[in-house]
Amino acid sequence: MSKSKLEPNVLEEIMAKTGTAESSVIAILQGVQEHYRYLPREVFGYIAARLGIGVARLYSVATFYENFSLEPKGRYVLRVCDGTACHVRKSIPILTRLRAELGLSEATPTTEDLRFTLETVSCLGACGLAPVLTVNDKVYPAMTPEKASELLSSLKEEE
Ligand code: FES
Repeated sequence: MSKSKLEPNVLEEIMAKTGTAESSVIAILQGVQEHYRYLPREVFGYIAARLGIGVARLYSVATFYENFSLEPKGRYVLRVCDGTACHVRKSIPILTRLRAELGLSEATPTTEDLRFTLETVSCLGACGLAPVLTVNDKVYPAMTPEKASELLSSLKEEE
C-alpha cells in the first residue's frame, strides 16, 4: 500500500496562504495539485471540513476544471495537441509513436513508475506552430514522430 496522501500539515500550509473562505476553493485545489501533481481523494474530506462546505461541492469544482486531475500524473506530462490545425498537420502519428514507446494507451495514460503521462488536448492556442507538443509547460513546435521520440529519449536520460 502506498502511504496516505492526507498530510494535514501540507494542507494547512496551503490554506495559510489562500485562506479558508469558500471563494478560496480553486486556489486551495491549485495548491494541492501543485504539491501532489494531482488531487488525491483523501484530502477532500479534510479541506471540506476546514472550509465548512460539503465534499460534493469540492468534487464539483475539481471535476469542472479540465486542469484539475483526480488521477496521479507522471513527473513529465506530455500533451499532444489534436486541435484541427495540429490534426491536419499529422499529430496522430506523433501520439501513436509516443504511446507505443511508453507502452501507454488512451485508457492508461500514465506509466506505472509515474514518470510519464501522455494526453491529448484540443488546442494549445499555438496553431501557427502545428503540430505542437508540450512537456509540462514547455512548448515544442513543428513536431514529427521522430522528433517526439528523440525528445522522449532525452527526457528519459535527464533523470
Ligand atoms: S490546434 Fe494545435 S495549437 Fe491549435
